[in-house]
Amino acid sequence: MHKIAVLPGDGIGPEVVAEGLKVLNALSENYSVKFDFQEFNINSERYLSTGKLVTDDDIDQLRKFDSIFLGAIGDDRVKPGVLEKGILLALRFSFDQYINHRPAPLWKPFGRLKRDVDFNIDVFRENTEDYYIGAGGRVSNGKGKLDMRVKRQLYDMRVTLDANADAADDFAFEIGMMSRKNIERFADHVIDFSNLIGENYITVVDKANVCSNIYSLWREVWDEKCRRAGKEHGYMYVDAMTMALVKNPDKFRLIAVPNMFGDIITDLLAEVTGGLGLAPGGNINPKGISMFEPVHGSAPKYKGMDRINPVATILAAKMMMDNLGRRDIGDVIFKGVRGAFDKGVYTQDLGGKATTKQMGDAVVAAIHALK
Ligand code: IPM
Ligand code: MG
Repeated sequence: MHKIAVLPGDGIGPEVVAEGLKVLNALSENYSVKFDFQEFNINSERYLSTGKLVTDDDIDQLRKFDSIFLGAIGDDRVKPGVLEKGILLALRFSFDQYINHRPAPLWKPFGRLKRDVDFNIDVFRENTEDYYIGAGGRVSNGKGKLDMRVKRQLYDMRVTLDANADAADDFAFEIGMMSRKNIERFADHVIDFSNLIGENYITVVDKANVCSNIYSLWREVWDEKCRRAGKEHGYMYVDAMTMALVKNPDKFRLIAVPNMFGDIITDLLAEVTGGLGLAPGGNINPKGISMFEPVHGSAPKYKGMDRINPVATILAAKMMMDNLGRRDIGDVIFKGVRGAFDKGVYTQDLGGKATTKQMGDAVVAAIHALK
C-alpha cells in the first residue's frame, strides 16, 4: 500500500491532479499496486481565508506519507513570492528535497524545433540552495543591517550583512549560497543516475565566469566527485547552454544545474520537447519523502475550462511510481501516454482537440489495452 498525500493546489492544479489520480486508480484495478490517497487543502484559498501557508502541523501530517503528489501553486490575487516561497519552496526545503529531477525526452511529433533532431535529456536541478535560499532584504538611505537565517536539514545558519553606502539610495540584496556537503550529495545522486542509465558524461551548468564565488565551490565538488567516480564532465555557462539546447539538444544526455538556472533551462527545454504540458518533475530526497508535480504552474485563466493538458501531471505520477520502487508501473504509465498519443488523442496545446478529462481517459484506455 502506497500512502500518497495529494495536494491539488491552485488554478488548474485540481483538474490535472484528478487525471493523475484517475490513471493511478486504473492501475490499482489491473496491477498489483494499492494506494491510500489523502487530500490536503494547502493552497491559496486556505491562505486567503486563514492566512496560513505551510504550517508545522502540515509538515507533521505530511511526514506520515510515502510521497506527495502536487498539482500547482499560484494565484493572481496574492503578491508574487508569498505562495511560491510559503508553500512550494517551504515543502521542498522542509522535506530536504535537494534534487529536482526533470526528464526532457523529445515527444514526437510535438517537438518544437524546425529541424528533425532526436534527444532524451535528464536535467538534475539543485533544489535547496543557490539564489533560492530566501536570504536578502533592503536597506534605505544607503545604510542598514540585515539579519538573515537559512535553515536546512544540513545546517541552521545566521548571516548578517552590514551595508554602508555613500549614496542615500535604496539598495536590495538577494544572497546566493551553496554548501559543500549539499553539492556533494547532489553530485552523488546525479552520478548514481548516470550509472543507472549507463551514461559516462555529465554536462555541468553554471556562470562561474561571473558568479565565481558561488560556482567555484560548485566546480570544485564536481571535479572531485567525477574524478573519483571515473566520470567525464564538462562545464557550460548557462547563457551558452540555452543556445545549445535549442541548437543541438541531441548533444546532451545528462545535465546538472544550480537551482535558479535550472528553473530557467527546464522551461526552455520543456518547450523544445513539445511544451510545458508534457514536462514532469520530481523533488527528490533519496532517503525521505519526495514530491512530484508538473513543471507548469497554476494557469488561473484556464481554470475550470477542461482544456489543460494533464500529461505533465500523469508523467509526474509515473516518476512517483519509479521513485517508490515500482518502475514496472512507471513503465505502464509511460506506455499509456505514448499509446494515447499514437491513437491521435491530445490536447489543444499540442494542436489536438481532447479535453483534460478525455486525455486522462485515453491514457487509461491505452493502459487497459496493454493488458
Ligand atoms: C518551478 C517553478 C517554481 C520554481 C516557482 C513557482 C517557485 O517555477 O517549479 O520551476 O522556481 O522552482
Ligand atoms: Mg519554473
